[in-house]
Amino acid sequence: MDDRPTLAETGRTAPRAPPPRRGLGLSWKLLILTAAFAMISAVMIYVPRISSYRITWLSDHLAMADIAAVVLASPDQADVPREIQDELLKAVGATAIAIRSGSVSRLIAAVEMPPTVDATVDLRIMQPTEDVMEAFRTLLSPQERTIRVVGNSYTGTEIELLISDRPLRQAMLRYSAGVLWLWAAISLILSLLLFMAVNRMFVRPIRRLSQNMVDFSADPQNPGRVIAPSGRRDEIGLAEDQLAGMQHDLQATLAEQRHLADLGLAVSKINHDLRNMLASAQLFSDRLGGLPDPTVQRFAPKLIAALDRAIAFTQSTLAYGRAREAPPARRLVRLDRLVDEVADSLGLTGQTDIAFSNVVPEGLEVDADPDQLFRILNNLGRNAVQALDGGDRNPALVRRLTVGARREAGKVVIHVEDTGPGVPERARTHLFQAFQGSVRPGGTGLGLAIAAELVRAHGGTVVLADKAGPGARFEVTLPDRAGPATRNGG
Ligand SMILES: Nc1ncnc2c1ncn2[C@@H]1O[C@H](COP(=O)(O)OP(=O)(O)OP(=O)(O)O)[C@@H](O)[C@H]1O
Ligand SMILES: [Mg+2]
Repeated sequence: MDDRPTLAETGRTAPRAPPPRRGLGLSWKLLILTAAFAMISAVMIYVPRISSYRITWLSDHLAMADIAAVVLASPDQADVPREIQDELLKAVGATAIAIRSGSVSRLIAAVEMPPTVDATVDLRIMQPTEDVMEAFRTLLSPQERTIRVVGNSYTGTEIELLISDRPLRQAMLRYSAGVLWLWAAISLILSLLLFMAVNRMFVRPIRRLSQNMVDFSADPQNPGRVIAPSGRRDEIGLAEDQLAGMQHDLQATLAEQRHLADLGLAVSKINHDLRNMLASAQLFSDRLGGLPDPTVQRFAPKLIAALDRAIAFTQSTLAYGRAREAPPARRLVRLDRLVDEVADSLGLTGQTDIAFSNVVPEGLEVDADPDQLFRILNNLGRNAVQALDGGDRNPALVRRLTVGARREAGKVVIHVEDTGPGVPERARTHLFQAFQGSVRPGGTGLGLAIAAELVRAHGGTVVLADKAGPGARFEVTLPDRAGPATRNGG
């Protein structure tokens, strides 16, 4: 046996490499989110503003046309000369102005060839959606269009004018550029301020927490790696306090484990040499047993039995003290034959004291490590033999040990059953725990613990089953390996 302590024995864990960073860090996510929200808010502000800018521009031009119409339509100004009309139209930016009262429409001024109308805007009706769409049509349309604008004149009539949308588009573009710059400057400053504040208040402390976890898991026994809480009173402060508490607890547990592992190692070493010394003592006592002296003859068997028990004890403790059982080397095992071997090793064949019956279906195959399965059944069988042998030696008592098995989908259930006195109540509480389950004089309390550990290594379970009659029944369930070895039927 290799006496060097393994990592598990010493309680030291291998330093874990820091986990690779997945995706963008919190700071980047925050920056992108802030910029995206600033853009969304700018769009939400810009859309209604550009639409109302267009309406205001058109209303202003309609008001100018209204004033011009008052001058041109005055009854004392019979015929306004063509040049004055053109000058006025140019000043207003229109190609024609008309006023309507009731159903009578009167053209006040017009260029010689008024263009055809592409769109009409009635300023007396509120159409927010249509206004927004029209604003973008004006902004994005590559061709110059003529718009007919209709509104109320302050004289109580209705006024109409035809106007080109080119100056409107230019004004809107200038306005957009101004707004864009302003928005860019404001949102940049706001984003930066927000980013810096959130980064300082949340991202950095969270990064500190996660970095500490990485550092701590790399060297969990170093007290310097325990996080120093910053004293914050919010949720992050609470997380720091909790983490520090957990790290302290973990370090205490690790230290405890290390002490236990060191102790276990020392006990194993002492045990090892003690077994050798006891083996020499056994040799001498065997020779002592050969002496004809009646006193020696009386005491030698007791001495030999005591030494046998002591050696068995040291051996089983040694087996358990081994750092770890090797992982099971699984094969297909014929269970009926293996059970016969176990019976042989327990001295059950050819004796009449205990009736042994192997009722495992012939040819039933188990997917298990043959040596480990032997040890499992040997421990269960030995317990049963000890239970049947001990206590009342009345020859009329039925002493029977039965081992059987059945195959269910993907697993084999093996039972070891005896007609002994049953497992005492005191033993049941810690039945599968090392050194704790034994209530038998001379018992170590390791047999069932070892069996349970080996069964667990196969992914199976061992339980003390309920039994109608007297005696004890242990059931071991061993699942087949997953994959091609899985066998059903049988
Ligand atoms: N078939 C059984 N019938 C009655 N009692 C049982 C049976 N199997 C186990 N026990 C009880 O459970 C206890 C624990 O068993 P376990 O095999 O773990 O330890 P042990 O037999 O006392 O010692 P060891 O097997 O280490 O020499 C036994 O002491 C015994 O009291
Ligand atoms: Mg036992």
